[in-house]
Amino acid sequence: MPETRRRWNRYIEIRGARANNLKGIDVRFPLNVMTCVTGVSGSGKSSLVRDILFNAIKRNLDEVGDRPGEFASLEGDTNAIQAIEFVDQNPIGKSSRSNPVTYVKAWDEIRKLFAQQALAQQMGFTAAYFSFNASGGRCEECNGEGTVTVEMQFMADLVLECESCHGKRFKQEVLEVRFHEKNVYDILDMTINQAIEFFTEWKEKKIVRLLKPLQDVGLGYIKLGQSSSTLSGGENQRVKLAYYLGMDKHVPTMFIFDEPTTGLHFHDIKKLLAAFDALLMKGHTLIIIEHNPDVIKCADHILDMGPEGGEEGGYLIAFGTPEEIVQCKQSYTGHFLKEKLS
Ligand SMILES: Nc1ncnc2c1ncn2[C@@H]1O[C@H](COP(=O)(O)OP(=O)(O)OP(=O)(O)O)[C@@H](O)[C@H]1O
Ligand SMILES: [Mg+2]
Ligand SMILES: [Zn+2]
Repeated sequence: MPETRRRWNRYIEIRGARANNLKGIDVRFPLNVMTCVTGVSGSGKSSLVRDILFNAIKRNLDEVGDRPGEFASLEGDTNAIQAIEFVDQNPIGKSSRSNPVTYVKAWDEIRKLFAQQALAQQMGFTAAYFSFNASGGRCEECNGEGTVTVEMQFMADLVLECESCHGKRFKQEVLEVRFHEKNVYDILDMTINQAIEFFTEWKEKKIVRLLKPLQDVGLGYIKLGQSSSTLSGGENQRVKLAYYLGMDKHVPTMFIFDEPTTGLHFHDIKKLLAAFDALLMKGHTLIIIEHNPDVIKCADHILDMGPEGGEEGGYLIAFGTPEEIVQCKQSYTGHFLKEKLS
């Protein structure tokens, strides 16, 4: 629970929001703070935030996107936002060879490190040899996937371990290159937590710095080589969050999250909140659609939609700090927050 709420004065306002069940409402989204959009299922949260706010700002930035849902005007400090990102739960990469460490660019550094080892230099193995996305060092039988998929008529595809590399994804001579006894496959088989420990021990600061955001968002338990296609929706969303946390260059960005805590344990929610804080420290704006009271209670500002789902919804029931929402008798969110705040 934060000791104080962040104050704000700049905002972006949507006037006359009418998409789907919205009742022509005016809503202010504060900048540089964490806002939670709450309300029962079907109350109009996604209609307001995704269909209108996201698409309207995108259009305002001259980016291609879907046509926004019906609204009258976009007002306020629209120039203060230079980029907008909708962080969804869709897979981070389509190829089964893409994985969390390639997404945060840590694998590029690990490949360079392997290319610097004496044996690699002697054999002429460049960093490209340690890639599973290009031919050279990867197993050509399975194209670096470690598995082969056999299409079965009338049955689900059969995924078998590659007979050539036995699931190790690289050619034997490439696997013989080691950094402190570990080859590339051993590294891919480590969890993020183990890899951070290992590279910290050997003072590979740049690699540790790139891996750290994945640990910060509570993904320390996944393996470096785990294919993106096998990550859960919530895990994919957090890999994207890690990517934004690790970015060096920044323009003031509005980040929109739709239920980022899905599947998260209480302990991980704490980590996620710390990651949100880090984004705010960099001067970004967060709009989070959320049902989880442990996140809602930490918001600087709440926009509570309702009162019900469907036609009976579409109104802005209450807005303000969690303390102010608790005072609102019609707000379901207020009732739930009451216990959390006392
Ligand atoms: N494309 C659409 N056409 C017609 N009605 C829609 C459309 N999209 C949503 N609705 C309706 O508008 C209302 C608000 O939907 P919305 O998706 O905004 O709710 P939500 O608050 O995001 O709910 P949830 O928490 O379940 O995601 C619902 O009654 C929904 O059935
Ligand atoms: Mg929704
Ligand atoms: Zn193979």
